[in-house]
Amino acid sequence: MSDQAVFAPPPEFAASAHVGSLEAYQDLYRRAEENPEQFWSELAEKEILWYEKWSHAFEWHPPFVKWFVDGKTNASANCLDRHVEAGKGDKVALLWEGEPGDTRRITYAEMLAEVCRFANGLKQLGLQPGDRAVIYMPMVPEAVVAMLGCARIGVTHSVVFGGFSAEALKARIQDLEAQIVITADGGWRRGKEVKLKPAVDEALADCPTVRHSVVYQRTNSALPMQEGRDIWWHDFIKDQPAECPPEKLDSEHPLFVLYTSGTTGKPKGILHTTGGYLLHARLTMKWVFDLKDDDIYWCSADIGWVTGHTYIVYGPMSAGATQIMYEGAPDHPGWDRWWAIAANYKATIFYTSPTAVRAIIKQGDALPAKHDLSSLRLLGSVGEPINPAAWEWYHRVIGGGRCPIVDTWWQTETGGILIAPMPGAVPLKPGSGTLPMPGVLAEVVDFDGNPVGVDQEGFLIIKRPWPSMIRNIWGDPQRFEQQYFSRIPGIYFTGDAARRDAEGYFWILGRVDDVMNVSGHRLSTMEVESALVRHRAVAEAAVVGKPDEITGQAVCCFVTLKEGNWNHDTLGQELRQWVAHEIGSFARPAEIRFAEALPKTRSGKIMRRLLREIVTSHTVSGDVTTLEDLGVVQRLAAQHDDD
Ligand code: WT7
Repeated sequence: MSDQAVFAPPPEFAASAHVGSLEAYQDLYRRAEENPEQFWSELAEKEILWYEKWSHAFEWHPPFVKWFVDGKTNASANCLDRHVEAGKGDKVALLWEGEPGDTRRITYAEMLAEVCRFANGLKQLGLQPGDRAVIYMPMVPEAVVAMLGCARIGVTHSVVFGGFSAEALKARIQDLEAQIVITADGGWRRGKEVKLKPAVDEALADCPTVRHSVVYQRTNSALPMQEGRDIWWHDFIKDQPAECPPEKLDSEHPLFVLYTSGTTGKPKGILHTTGGYLLHARLTMKWVFDLKDDDIYWCSADIGWVTGHTYIVYGPMSAGATQIMYEGAPDHPGWDRWWAIAANYKATIFYTSPTAVRAIIKQGDALPAKHDLSSLRLLGSVGEPINPAAWEWYHRVIGGGRCPIVDTWWQTETGGILIAPMPGAVPLKPGSGTLPMPGVLAEVVDFDGNPVGVDQEGFLIIKRPWPSMIRNIWGDPQRFEQQYFSRIPGIYFTGDAARRDAEGYFWILGRVDDVMNVSGHRLSTMEVESALVRHRAVAEAAVVGKPDEITGQAVCCFVTLKEGNWNHDTLGQELRQWVAHEIGSFARPAEIRFAEALPKTRSGKIMRRLLREIVTSHTVSGDVTTLEDLGVVQRLAAQHDDD
C-alpha cells in the first residue's frame, strides 16, 4: 500500500455520525481557533455537570493554565449520578469478563452504589480532599470503583500498572506521599495468578505515609494481612451506606497523577485536574469514537496506563457508554480470545494498539474468521504509528473492510486524543493520525520554533493550551517548565518528531529524546540504565531501542562489567530478570550485549546514536570523529556477526 492510499468515510457511516462531513469538522476547528473562550464555554455548559459555573473558560500564564476558572464539579458525579438521574440507571456500564471466563454485568445504578460505599469507607478512614491514593489492581470492576470512589471525595488517585515491580510502586508511593494503597490479592493472566499484594507489602516497608491498604479478593490465594493496616475490600464496604454526596470540587482540583518515563531515571508524575480533563475526554468519545447510546464500546488497554484512564473510565463513563472490560491476556486460552469476546457481546467499537494487532496477525487469519465480527463499526489504534501492513490487515480482517480506523495520537501529558480523524468526516491515510481536534493548534517546527515546509520533518508542538493538558509534574514545577515549555518558550513541546503533508495531515515519526516505545509503552533508556548499574556485576550500561517486528522497539542493553569472573550466558539472563524486577516485567530487555567499553565522546557522554546504528543496521557510519576510541565501536558492531 502506498503513502497515497486514501479511504473516504463510508457514506452510511457519515450519514449517522456526530460529525458527518469534512466541512463540519473544518467548521468546528475554525470556531475553536477563532473564539476559544466561546467555543469551550458552550461545550462545557452542554456536556458537563457543574455545581457552580466558571467565570471564564481559561486562564493561561505559561506554563500554567486553568480551565473553567472557579467552576465546581465532580468527576464521579459526571460519570455516574447524571446518568442515573437521567433515568439510565439500568443501563449496563460494564460487561466484564474475567480471564477464567467468569462474567459480570454492572449497571450505572449499581456502579454508583458501589462507588458510594467505597467512598464512604475512605471517608471513615479519615481521607480528605487533596489526599493521595495509590491504586495497584488487576482489570476488575473494583479498579474502576476505586478510581471513581477517590474522585467522588476529592482524593487524588494514582494508578500504578500491575506489571510494575515493588521498587517502582514504592518510588511512586513515596513521591506522592500517599496515605492509602488500594490493591488486590492478584489477578489472572495466562491461566496463572499474578500476585499484587506481596509487592505492596514489600513497598510499604519503606512508605511511612501509608496508613492503610484495602485489599480486594480476586484470586482467593492465601495472604498475610497486617493487623491494623490491611483491610479486606469486602469488610471495608460492608456496612457503608450506598449514598455519598459527591464533593463539590474546584474545576482545577487534582483528579489524578500518572507516572510516565522521562529522559532521566526518575519517572514524572503527570498531574491532571478535573473540569477540562473531563470535557476533553467526553468530547473525544463523540468526535473520534462517534459514540452513540446503543454502542458496545471496548478499549483493550489496562487502566494502569493513560489510555485506560481516559478511554475506559472518564471518557466512556462520562458519556454513559456500555463497555466491555476484560481482565486477562489476549492469547488465553487461544489467540482468538478477543474475537470471541467481541462476537459474544457484539462489540461495535474496538480500540487497541498496533503491537497487539501485529502479534495477532502473526497467528493468521483463520482465528478471527472463526468469530462473527459483523457488529463492529469502528476500529481504533493508539500508542505508536501503525504501519500500513498492520493497518490494512486490521481494516480487512477485523473490520471486514467496512470499519474506519481512527489512528489516535496523544500522550499521557495531553490527557486525551489530540490528533485523530473524525471518522465520519476525515478521509483516512493509513499510518497518519490525520488532523488535529478542534482547539488543538498543532504545528511542525524547526529548532528555532519556525514552521517547516510541507513534508519536512520537525518537532511536533501544540501552540495553545487545551482543556485536558498536563497541569504540572507532581512536586516539580521546574522540571515541568523545563521539559515541556523551554525548547520554544511558552509553547508545549511534545517530544515527538513529525511531518505534515500537503493536505495538512500529520505523520508521527517517533520520539526525539532518549525514550523508547515498547509495545506502545514509554520507557526511558536512563531508567533501564540506572536499574542495570545497581546490579553488583555492572560497571556501565547504555540502553537503546532496537526495531522489533511486534513490539515496535525492544530494549537492547550494552553493559561493561566490573572485575570478576562472569559467565556471560547466566549473567545475561540474570540481568534481564534484574531489570524486570527493578522496573517491571514489561521492561525486560530483549538483549544484553557485553562490551569491553562503551563508545563515548571526549566529554564522556555515551554515544547512543552509534549504539542505535549498531542494533539497527549492524554497521556504523556517520560522524565518529569525536569518538575517543574507534575500536570500541568496531568491536561492538562486529560482535553481532559472532553471535
Ligand atoms: C507517545 C506517548 C497515548 C496513550 C498511549 C501512549 C507515541 C502515541 C501514537 C500514534 C504515533 C503515537 C508518541 C507519543 N504515540 N500514539 N497514534 N501514532 N505515535 O502514551 O506512554 O504517554 O506515550 O506515544 O511517541 O509521544 P504515552
